[in-house]
Amino acid sequence: MATKSKKKAKIEIENNEDPQEEPVKVMATEEEAPEVKIDDLPGVGPATAEKLREAGFDDLLALAVMSPGDLADQAELGEAVATKIIAAAKKMANIGGFVSGGALLERRREVLKLSSKVQSIDDLLGGGFETQALVEVYGAFGSGKTQIGHQLAVNCTLPMSEGGFDGDVFYIDTEDTFRPERITQMARGHGLDPDAVLARIHVARAYNSAHQMLLVDEIKRMSKGLNVKMIIVDSLTSHFRAEYIGRGMLANRQQKLNRHLKDLKQLADVNNALVLVTNQVHSKPDAMWGDPTKPIGGHVLAHASTFRLYLRKAKAGRRIARLVDSPNLPDGECVYQVTQEGLRD
Ligand code: GTP
Ligand code: MG
Repeated sequence: MATKSKKKAKIEIENNEDPQEEPVKVMATEEEAPEVKIDDLPGVGPATAEKLREAGFDDLLALAVMSPGDLADQAELGEAVATKIIAAAKKMANIGGFVSGGALLERRREVLKLSSKVQSIDDLLGGGFETQALVEVYGAFGSGKTQIGHQLAVNCTLPMSEGGFDGDVFYIDTEDTFRPERITQMARGHGLDPDAVLARIHVARAYNSAHQMLLVDEIKRMSKGLNVKMIIVDSLTSHFRAEYIGRGMLANRQQKLNRHLKDLKQLADVNNALVLVTNQVHSKPDAMWGDPTKPIGGHVLAHASTFRLYLRKAKAGRRIARLVDSPNLPDGECVYQVTQEGLRD
């Protein structure tokens, strides 16, 4: 089993008589396991499907875990209809299952690490930015979040032998701060042809949070034929923060954000790619000790991110990155600089 390849896994799915083989589905790609849509549920017509989507339910699992009362409320349906929908979703949803530790280790072996080309940052991250992971970079204005996004986008196009992924990048820009000129400078900093690098970075401006979420579907659609190795959302939270204001909107905002993060994580898993999101901070004046600035996005984002990097400005143009809450690395800090050619030790 130690050498089980993707191909083997696929054959096992096709001959799958035994439900115990289910765990293989963890490795399934989109082609192997066609996704059942909410429209495919018995009794869900186009109007109901639309209501469900508007309420933020766009996959079966999200429906399967609801209670009839809550679903009826949130999607403005009758409770009897909600009950039927939930029952059908439970039957058809891919609830997933348990996987052996060995199978997980096998999957972890596929993980690649993208070099920042800054030794201190790579060391902090145990060798670089991992695929199959969601990395959150947070910090105050001007702390350098967008600079990291630009730099890693460039590095992702480097050959594997130079710490890159020889890959394509999708960049969702919500604040209109993507600058091809900056990519050009950083590409030159690595001795790369700027035009070749720019050709592999696919950028879309997201005009609001709904658009931002739709762009993830667009990435899925466009990624055929590309070697998608990195998805950047800069910033993940700004639209959500601006659109869902006040306590009353919080649950709704967190539900949407959660959906968005799951979609992004799925892209990371399916493509063995790295997802990098940026996030702002807010100050918590009631914090009794420690740094009073906290990332926004609450528990939803805290749970979704595999790695969190907290950026700060230091004296003499230096920057400090702090690794927070990593599952397998010690917390720590490193110092680097932002120069015209890009990030440097
Ligand atoms: P917000 O998006 O406003 O929250 O900030 P951010 O964290 O994304 O900051 P960003 O990455 O845009 O960092 C901006 C800072 O990077 C600037 O204040 C400069 O200090 C630095 N910077 C950007 N471009 C250059 C450059 O060409 N040369 C140098 N030396 N520094 C640069
Ligand atoms: Mg920025």
